[in-house]
Amino acid sequence: MDRSAKDRREIIDGLLQVPARIAPKYFYDVRGSALFEEITRLAEYYPTRTEAAVMQVHGADILQKVGAGGTVIEFGAGSCEKARGLCRQLRPQRFVAVDISAEFLHGAVERMRGEFPGLEVLPLVADLSGVVELPAGLPREKRLLFYPGSSIGNFDPPHALALLTRFRRLIDADGALLIGIDLVKDIAVLEAAYDDAAGVTAEFNLNVLDHLNRLIGSDFEPAGWRHVAFYNAAASRIEMHLEALAATWVNWPGGQRQFTAGERIHTENSYKYRRADFFELLARAGFSRCDAWTDPRDWFAVVLARP
Ligand code: AVJ
Repeated sequence: MDRSAKDRREIIDGLLQVPARIAPKYFYDVRGSALFEEITRLAEYYPTRTEAAVMQVHGADILQKVGAGGTVIEFGAGSCEKARGLCRQLRPQRFVAVDISAEFLHGAVERMRGEFPGLEVLPLVADLSGVVELPAGLPREKRLLFYPGSSIGNFDPPHALALLTRFRRLIDADGALLIGIDLVKDIAVLEAAYDDAAGVTAEFNLNVLDHLNRLIGSDFEPAGWRHVAFYNAAASRIEMHLEALAATWVNWPGGQRQFTAGERIHTENSYKYRRADFFELLARAGFSRCDAWTDPRDWFAVVLARP
């Protein structure tokens, strides 16, 4: 089965579940990626700027622990904005930019090459929920895996553990994982970050319906749905859903589904961690030497995990 046939199956399976669900990776079409960039600049969305500040303030410490040179491999590189700062500090020999979106990646890789002459830059299109095959012949020495932005928050704990375990297998004893995680904090702060006053996150959430319409030929009408986001404290996660404003049928070639008024489609989980719990997860994945740096409010942690 080719990738688009597999995606199609997976999307339709999710729509037919009760409750229905759509995987968050489908947020990121061209418009969704641009909306996400806009989210990262919102006053309420603290993770991106808090992580950047932690990296800025503690960059020398991090550099001292990982050392210069080697290969930096960023997962979910997007515009390579974060890698730029890291490469300026670490001066690696090689940079591998891994992302699910080919369109986004190629321009970003060109800009990295322009800005860092002498840096070998390799783009890699891959979906992190599957197996990631690094480029053949990529040296194993001194690999620094970079997974910023609390992207791991989209994975539930068993899948987060599986992903960390796969990361561990990509490096040797001289390698490391540098990962950003969003920390548990005041509920009002968390909920505002996922339901901003300007409605950008609502637009981002609703945009997934337009994307699905193109991917599977469905007839979702985004205007018939509303954005819902709340913190589920028992599960330690923000949940995002789309709620039907009125009873509706959604059709696609070969199938359909009815939604009642108020029925929801679960579109995203964003897990928040306590530092000790995340260290425990890292230990189970084979990372026993862990250091963390945070901002003064303890809102976001940058963790360096070594075997
Ligand atoms: C890209 C998964 C880190 O969970 O904060 C932002 C995605 N969703 N606003 C997050 C997101 C709504 C973001 N991650």
